[in-house]
Amino acid sequence: LKIVLKIGGNEIDDAGFLEKVSQLAADIIENHHKLVIVHGGGKEITNLLTKLNIQTKFVKGLRYTDAHSLDVIEMVLSGSINKRLVKYLQQKKVDTIGLSGIDGNLLVARKISREGEDIGLVGEVHKVNTLLLEKLIDQFTVVLSPISITENCTSLNVNADYAAAAVASALKSELVIFLSDVPGVLKDGIVIKNIHEKEYIEMKKLGIISGGMVPKIEASLQALRGGALKAFITNVEGVHGTIFETVDNKTFIATQVLI
Ligand SMILES: Nc1ncnc2c1ncn2[C@@H]1O[C@H](COP(=O)(O)OP(=O)(O)OP(=O)(O)O)[C@@H](O)[C@H]1O
Ligand SMILES: [Mg+2]
Repeated sequence: LKIVLKIGGNEIDDAGFLEKVSQLAADIIENHHKLVIVHGGGKEITNLLTKLNIQTKFVKGLRYTDAHSLDVIEMVLSGSINKRLVKYLQQKKVDTIGLSGIDGNLLVARKISREGEDIGLVGEVHKVNTLLLEKLIDQFTVVLSPISITENCTSLNVNADYAAAAVASALKSELVIFLSDVPGVLKDGIVIKNIHEKEYIEMKKLGIISGGMVPKIEASLQALRGGALKAFITNVEGVHGTIFETVDNKTFIATQVLI
């Protein structure tokens, strides 16, 4: 299988979490699957921006990005977090290459607004260097920072969920998994097993789904429309079931997004 795994940034500085994720990657590779890991970095980005006295705000789940913020975001995502993941995976003997969307024009993006609101230097991916990515995943696990490149060769900040969707679509991956700090899409504290677009729209209207969960579900839908076969939202505890189907239906906790 070609598996795209998006890892959220909320726990990416936690040694226990990194240990679990890298062991998961090792298990995936041992089972002869191909793997691309796309990562976020929300919490660490906010921490560094705060230290540097740069204001940070979110517009409908997306971070408003001015030029100063973009410098910092790129440092954190394509620098410290990307290389941290590479080191953890290589410690598990997983042959890994860490890149950003800039390298080899892996992710080419253009600037977007969010529901009519300006959000600064934020983009959406409109072209993936699929040929290069296919070649790379034959030999390596690719760890990909979502910072993308424009046609004019400048950087844009792309939400990692959407970047993962673009990668999953380009590869027509059998499985795209959004790992976050929640076990799935929650309603009244309970994980919803399946969610269709219609229910998503309804739950978003009611405020049951908000913040960072919005891009995650939209990205899942984009990936499925783009040709990915299955999309799950879960946490590191729930992910094993989605890939290895090692747990029964009762203990299996994850949300499958359906179109
Ligand atoms: N119905 C919901 N079910 C579960 N989580 C929800 C829901 N509505 C909103 N959320 C929020 O969405 C968050 C997950 O998105 P968030 O963007 O914070 O994490 P991430 O995407 O994993 O990390 P990053 O943005 O750094 O890549 C949850 O922690 C929760 O606060
Ligand atoms: Mg997010």
